Amino acid sequence: MASVDVPVALLGYGTVGAAVDRLLSENADDIERATGHRLRVVRALVRDARKERGFAPAPGVLTTDFADVRDDPSIALVAEVMGGIEPARGHVLDLLRAGKPVVTANKQLIAQRSDELFPAASAAGVQLRFEASVCAAIPVIKVLREALVVSSVHRVLGIVNGTTNYILTRMEAGDTYEGALSEAQRLGFAEADPTEDVSGADAAAKMAILATIAFGSRVTLADVDFEGIERIVPGHIVAARELGMAVKLVGQATLAGGAVDARVAPALVDRHHPLAGVEGAFNAVMLQGDSIREIMLEGPGAGGIETASAVVADMVSIVGTQGTGFLQNDAVWRTLRKLPPGELESPYYLRIEVDDRAGVLAHVAERLAAHGVSVARLIQHGLAGGASLHVVTHEAPAGAVEAALGDIALLPETHGTPTRLAVISDRGVAAAG
Ligand code: NAP
Ligand code: HSE
Repeated sequence: MASVDVPVALLGYGTVGAAVDRLLSENADDIERATGHRLRVVRALVRDARKERGFAPAPGVLTTDFADVRDDPSIALVAEVMGGIEPARGHVLDLLRAGKPVVTANKQLIAQRSDELFPAASAAGVQLRFEASVCAAIPVIKVLREALVVSSVHRVLGIVNGTTNYILTRMEAGDTYEGALSEAQRLGFAEADPTEDVSGADAAAKMAILATIAFGSRVTLADVDFEGIERIVPGHIVAARELGMAVKLVGQATLAGGAVDARVAPALVDRHHPLAGVEGAFNAVMLQGDSIREIMLEGPGAGGIETASAVVADMVSIVGTQGTGFLQNDAVWRTLRKLPPGELESPYYLRIEVDDRAGVLAHVAERLAAHGVSVARLIQHGLAGGASLHVVTHEAPAGAVEAALGDIALLPETHGTPTRLAVISDRGVAAAG
């Protein structure tokens, strides 16, 4: 078979972009064997063409003018690896309208603007693929869209941010939050603005994308309640270990009774649960569905070369599936209402600082019982001037637990504001859509 030369362009030549160029050049023969196409980076858009790069581009490839990419009719395929909403959104729309298929690693772009981007790709009859936007090297989008298309997935549970998982793992080993974050930045895991990682916004965008694909209904970043790891202190990690659990930033998307709930928050994960063993910048996604019961995918969730492997895989899918009718917007085919806040049930961990004297525990237990919240486990630590109570509840609605904590916060013997984290310990398939 004659080899087809495919000139491609990159928008961005940073951690991921340089790694894509490297993978394409070092694996050009393998790609040609698999697809009959030879993918060659001919243009890469950057802000500063004089900056030193992790992998040296061919002479003349770097440009600071987007028109060099958009208006070059020989460029058959573009990977957007620059990040941010603008100008990435405008550039991707321009490229799709110009008939160029686009691959993106940009989770915020897909999670916030798929309502514009998917139709634009459909209208132009070109593909928009975004495997690298969720969990870097793990091919979870492909698995959901293709392998599990008839599996009625109704729950997606995962650790989907490498930076925060790396920070929490390092904190378990005794490092500081700040030290672990700067190491994650140095290793290229963190976003350009790491607040997106630690605030949970990055994981929330990924859960929006996963929920959209899994449930076939558009779920955007605005639909995902999220909380990050900024409030996690070493005391949480020590108490979790004593309870036989680990603190993890967990994303959950649930389809129950025809409604969707998607959220990201730190949680205590039982040591026996598979998510508890996911360490460092690794990610894992657990998919639960009627016919598949449960499938877990685990692998590197951040990093240049890891993410580039997913970008290249999408490029290969495009050249290898050209003209096969792969649809751009088939992920969105119905509208689901959002589960009202407070209705999702879970076991919870509560940390409450109190006076250390007779009767206090009874008052706390009374407030929990008044809201129907039942205690499964309890430990107490001594503190200067009092004690901290660490309570694990049985499954209860978030709203009831929040209301009980509100009452407990008003007790004269309570110090400060109690905290609540979801506990992940069951492996059951509880909800069905
Ligand atoms: P990065 O290292 O900061 O690289 C960004 C690149 O885009 C740089 O080459 C930069 O040019 C270029 N760029 C940014 N804004 C631009 C603008 N307005 N005009 C022209 N060029 C611009 O970022 P990255 O880590 O490679 O991440 C890129 C994308 O991949 C993001 O969407 C990120 O969320 C996603 N992603 C990253 C990872 C990871 O582990 N790093 C994993 C999965 C997904 P200069 O080099 O000249 O500054
Ligand atoms: N900053 C992201 C993370 C990169 O740490 O998971 C992968 O999307």
